Amino acid sequence: MGSLSFFAKAPSNIALIKYMGKKDSSRNLPENSSLSMTLDRLCTYAEITRAATGSDVQWIAELPRHEAAKNLTVPQLSDNGRAKVLRHVQRSREAATDILTAFGLAADSSAFAGGWELRSANTFPQGSGIASSASSFAAVTLASILACAKDPSAFCAMWERDPALRAALARLARLGSGSACRSLDGPFVLWSGEDVEVVKSGLPSLAHFVVLVSATEKKVSSSNAHLAVKTSPLWNGRASRAEERVAAVRAAIAQGDLAKIARISWNESWEMHSLFHTCAEPFTYWEPKTVEILQGLSPYIAEKSPPIVTLDAGPNIHVIVESAYQDEWEKRLRGFGVPVLRDGPGRGAQPLFQQKGAP
Ligand code: PMV
Repeated sequence: MGSLSFFAKAPSNIALIKYMGKKDSSRNLPENSSLSMTLDRLCTYAEITRAATGSDVQWIAELPRHEAAKNLTVPQLSDNGRAKVLRHVQRSREAATDILTAFGLAADSSAFAGGWELRSANTFPQGSGIASSASSFAAVTLASILACAKDPSAFCAMWERDPALRAALARLARLGSGSACRSLDGPFVLWSGEDVEVVKSGLPSLAHFVVLVSATEKKVSSSNAHLAVKTSPLWNGRASRAEERVAAVRAAIAQGDLAKIARISWNESWEMHSLFHTCAEPFTYWEPKTVEILQGLSPYIAEKSPPIVTLDAGPNIHVIVESAYQDEWEKRLRGFGVPVLRDGPGRGAQPLFQQKGAP
């Protein structure tokens, strides 16, 4: 048997009200609150192993050695991407003792001396157009803290039981990538300043689709987009409009008012993309097919049980509908002639401690 391994899995999330614009980029503090739906199957799996030698954290471009990760895809990380994630693992390791002790959990002193290996993989293929930063930073944060717990089983029990522990790790994950803080819990998560909170839902069962217009790497990184939007004349008043929308969507989720959420989300994603289209050096994530699909979907937004239609910083279109209508919606979306991925709302990140360790 090899050295001990610690696994975690975390899903991606899709924002209904967007995080776009930072107040403090060193701590990823947003200009406005945002509200998202955590997904279920579009996930990252991460493995932390205590290495036999060394003292730093190393990226191993291999599948995590967990049975659930057998058929997944190892991401190809750029030098920058790799450095960013390894820095975050180190940051998580340094924060672990304070977080664990705040929840009455002991830290394992042997976790801090030696080297660590990180392996991670996604349930979605590289270049599938699904952004992996939220799911990967959430998974890596959780695996790192789990790896520092003296009693990983006690940590897992506390994870299930105490939303404050999940919120504490969300604060840490945010330092790696802002939107990652909304992937620790679910399904509806409100992020405001340093804090995240699960929003009570009165909605019916939902299904989620991604209409994959393009799978190519985005031309403008989200870090650059966060800066660029502030040069748009439409930036004026953006934060207060977003706060009003967060409050309205939060209430509509509690009341189960899908029509209201669909209307507000539609306006919100048009606003975010309008910011991109009108900044000092305008850019777009859209492809001709994006516009065609948005045109095709627009008549449904005013219906009684409308789809929630939204876009991330990319050309792909996310559609959330009542599960009762998911088959007809899937058929309709496939009619646009591009691949469609199917998912649904999820509960957030899960530690997957395996006592037996790496082979
Ligand atoms: O977490 P970041 O810095 O990659 O920003 C993500 C921003 C959007 O995905 C465009 C919106 C959001 O709230 O997720």
